[in-house]
Amino acid sequence: MSKAKQVTKVVLGVSGASGACYAVRTLQLLLAAGIQVDLIYSNAAKRVLFEEMDIRLQQDPTILLQGQEAGAELRLWPNEDIGAPPASGTAIGDVVMLVPCSLSTIGAIAHGGASNLIERAAQVALKEGKHLLVVPRESPLSKVHLDCLSRLAWAGATVLPASPGFYQRPQSIEDLVDQVCGKILNRCGIEQQCLPAWDGGIGAQRHPVGEDQVDGRGDATS
Ligand SMILES: Cc1cc2nc3c(=O)[nH]c(=O)nc-3n(C[C@H](O)[C@H](O)[C@H](O)COP(=O)(O)O)c2cc1C
Repeated sequence: MSKAKQVTKVVLGVSGASGACYAVRTLQLLLAAGIQVDLIYSNAAKRVLFEEMDIRLQQDPTILLQGQEAGAELRLWPNEDIGAPPASGTAIGDVVMLVPCSLSTIGAIAHGGASNLIERAAQVALKEGKHLLVVPRESPLSKVHLDCLSRLAWAGATVLPASPGFYQRPQSIEDLVDQVCGKILNRCGIEQQCLPAWDGGIGAQRHPVGEDQVDGRGDATS
């Protein structure tokens, strides 16, 4: 039986969709897990990081760690440098994740665009059979958006929308962010503690089988 290859290196592309907190938390979790990260951010991402988190991202990406120990190597590549290592199949690592991913970048990738390093790394992942994972954030979605997302899924990418669930009763924004980021790591086979496995929930605990069962088939109170 073939064993899944352990992820040791990830390209993390951050584009200018809302949800900069997902990028920051994902970066922290990857480094804490001992994974080498090649970080690329777009100009629009810089703007959103400032609008949403007051982060002024200049040349030193460690500001994103917000005081946390890196744990593993973090390398920053300019999005304009289409000759940087993430542009090549020989150096791309195991996973390319775009967190969050604007619909503009998704549109470009879905149509073969590779005019900056984020787009190029995504194309390389697709052509080399590596894992491409995109975390889109937009609402509502137009038919154009849906078509582009569908094309990426068809090409083999994981489309993991930034849409946390509420059934695990999140208590804070941090819980919601952790849920999405935990799912990102899970999907890439990286161990994480942010997203606990569903245990059946409160319904199962209050209503064991045989009693007033809450099983989704009807109203337990009636
Ligand atoms: C504050 C702010 C929030 C934005 N939120 C989104 C968003 O949620 N989704 C999206 O697709 N674009 C969003 N945009 C627009 C993108 O930043 C814009 O399309 C940009 O050109 C994307 O460039 P990039 O893909 O190179 O990062 C936002 C822009 C700003 C300034």
